[in-house]
Amino acid sequence: MTVTIVGSQLGDEGKGALVDIWGGDADVVVRYQGGDNAGHTVVQDGTEYKLSLVPSGAVRGKVGILGNGCVVNPETLFDELDTLREKGLDPDVRIARRAHAILPYHRVLDGIEEEVKSDSDLAAGTTKRGIGPTYEDKAGRRGIRIGDMLDPEVLRERLEYVVPQKRAVAEEIYGLDVDESDHADAFDVDALFETYNEYGRRFREESMTVNCGDFLGQHIDDGDELLFEGAQGTSIDIDHGIYPYVTSSNPTAGGAAVGTGVGPTVIGQGEVVGIVKAYLSRVGTGPLPTELDGDDTEEELADFIREKGGEFGTVTGRPRRIGWLDMPMLRHAARANGFTGIAVNHIDVLAGLDEVKVGHAYELDGEEIETMPATTERWGECEPVLKSFEPWDEVDWAAVAEEGYEAIPEAAREYLEYVSEEVGAPIYAIGVGPGREETVVRANPFDSQ
Ligand code: IMP
Repeated sequence: MTVTIVGSQLGDEGKGALVDIWGGDADVVVRYQGGDNAGHTVVQDGTEYKLSLVPSGAVRGKVGILGNGCVVNPETLFDELDTLREKGLDPDVRIARRAHAILPYHRVLDGIEEEVKSDSDLAAGTTKRGIGPTYEDKAGRRGIRIGDMLDPEVLRERLEYVVPQKRAVAEEIYGLDVDESDHADAFDVDALFETYNEYGRRFREESMTVNCGDFLGQHIDDGDELLFEGAQGTSIDIDHGIYPYVTSSNPTAGGAAVGTGVGPTVIGQGEVVGIVKAYLSRVGTGPLPTELDGDDTEEELADFIREKGGEFGTVTGRPRRIGWLDMPMLRHAARANGFTGIAVNHIDVLAGLDEVKVGHAYELDGEEIETMPATTERWGECEPVLKSFEPWDEVDWAAVAEEGYEAIPEAAREYLEYVSEEVGAPIYAIGVGPGREETVVRANPFDSQ
């Protein structure tokens, strides 16, 4: 009944391809956390759509939901919807009334705080979309929810409470002269009310908001198939990730329950599929034990993988840092999420190398450990214990995708089988090229239940 797709590493594992492939069997595709920090590209009938907020299933004629665990920037939402409509699509997207709205001051404060942190080791390298500050206000009980925007009186009251506080933070803590800056409207109650009241009117008129848990519960009662689409990845989860270099939500599978109002037993009775990239890539800062940056040869290898794998941020365009696959990270993800299966992407990117390695374990204080330490400082002290694999050659991957698993070069299959064994979950799919059709699908999780 439900399939939950989760990033196993640092985000950008290529979840979108699997959401596309398996989402075809779903009636409803639900995002449960994050906001417009999540870039995904959807190709439909030869046209490419770059989305950061709208669930990709909405491009494919599914009902797309932004759950209560999401933070929603209405400007991004309406821009994406308008663009899709201009291209002739008719996306059906519903927003949880319990989801929190990103306001312009959240973006401004995200930018200022990253700037302040840039002199220290603390900068998370955020996408500057205001994600962290919005979740801060949610936890601080001063956030503005989508449901609040439906009632002008409530919206006004909330803004009048919170905006002076935000202005004070910008002015008194960060020394921004708000009225002389480009951001005066972002801290002005009247301007914000006008804009957000208009968004609220559009939400009402287009019947776009739902009581998410009830809405999904109804679909479950009707026997519909639900796909929960995690954004980002386990190692940048606010609780289970490499704090403070994390996003501010829970990409892990538990977030699918809390972030939608569907019970954990429902998620747990379904499939939880971890998406793994065959190597690591990382936007943002912080340690990375298996990073390929030790010497010129490693840096050349990183450049090769970056170019071949197109490892540049979808939202920000930033070049990503590259490392070998990190097994302690994957074991941690398998436990935190309870994977019932995995998909391994981008094995084609590693083809043609002289040697393929993985970080099998870490050495920390002279001892070998197999999972990640709980603090990022200790993680930074870990030295990878590398394991070498026979390399595999470049082949006609499109043909491999057509022929199936046995057509994958033997050395690559050994690599895949090692990963599957270590995380204790079968491999449902293997990505062998950038296109959606370049995927070897071994099982459909909707059929496994
Ligand atoms: P934020 O989510 O914009 O607050 O950024 C916090 C951290 O999460 C930064 O290190 C970002 O680079 C990272 N991050 C956020 N969204 C993504 C994503 O979709 N893929 C990979 N990293 C992400």
